[in-house]
Amino acid sequence: MDLKANIDLDKLPKHIAVIMDGNGRWAKKKGKPRVFGHKNGVQSVREISEACAEIGVEYLTLYAFSTENWSRPALEVNALMTLLVETVRREVKTLMDNDIRLAAIGDIENLPSKTQKALLEGIDTTKNNKRMTLVLALNYSARWEIRKAVQDLTEKVKNGDMASKDITDDIISQHMSTASIPDPELMIRTSGEQRISNFLLWQIAYAELYFTDIFWPEFRKENLYEAILDFQNRERRFGKTSEQIVL
Ligand code: IPE
Ligand code: IPE
Ligand code: MG
Repeated sequence: MDLKANIDLDKLPKHIAVIMDGNGRWAKKKGKPRVFGHKNGVQSVREISEACAEIGVEYLTLYAFSTENWSRPALEVNALMTLLVETVRREVKTLMDNDIRLAAIGDIENLPSKTQKALLEGIDTTKNNKRMTLVLALNYSARWEIRKAVQDLTEKVKNGDMASKDITDDIISQHMSTASIPDPELMIRTSGEQRISNFLLWQIAYAELYFTDIFWPEFRKENLYEAILDFQNRERRFGKTSEQIVL
């Protein structure tokens, strides 16, 4: 079956968020070190970014490194940071060719300076691209982001720049690192785990969640199309009744 042809382009999620999980287990299954899994995960990033851009998804956010991931062995953390630098540098040309803008969310200032530099260069070079925005969540956690938003807002109230009664959902959204990005309608997690692991907690209030057993290094365009088709077959009610939606 041609999955891609069955996708209703008028009902595409504007923003897809992905928890890329299972690199380590995929590598272990093959008798290889975990880093082998991370390296192979890059091909999936390439394919999924390309597929999203091709069908017209406007934002793709990839969870690449959580604030909790610093607790992994130093060897793995260092390898991931190096891989990030290499990948961003290598892929800038492809991003330009495909008119994709690179963006990042998370505590970027506290990434190693080399990683930060490569990332900021990639963001700057691609800043005028229009077809799709590829957002990398790096040194990211939802609680970090929410804590920061609360700190910024309380500071503004304390300084008399705003009244606490004027804090709306929109104002809170504007204080998140995703301020200019619409909430994801679809969130995908690979590798069979069914949890959120501190990702976009505020923004996924009404996202459809999609879990697949496939490990990230094996996730291909067809798997993405399957997830989108599943999304398109769901009824998003936003608190209303089914009858109200049909009308
Ligand atoms: C996801 O794969 C990549 C990162 C978290 C950086 P994992 O490294 O978590 O792989 P598993 O879950 O151990 O298999
Ligand atoms: C979540 O995956 C973070 C990323 C994909 C970057 P983890 O593998 O770190 O999540 P847990 O620890 O299994 O919840
Ligand atoms: Mg994992």
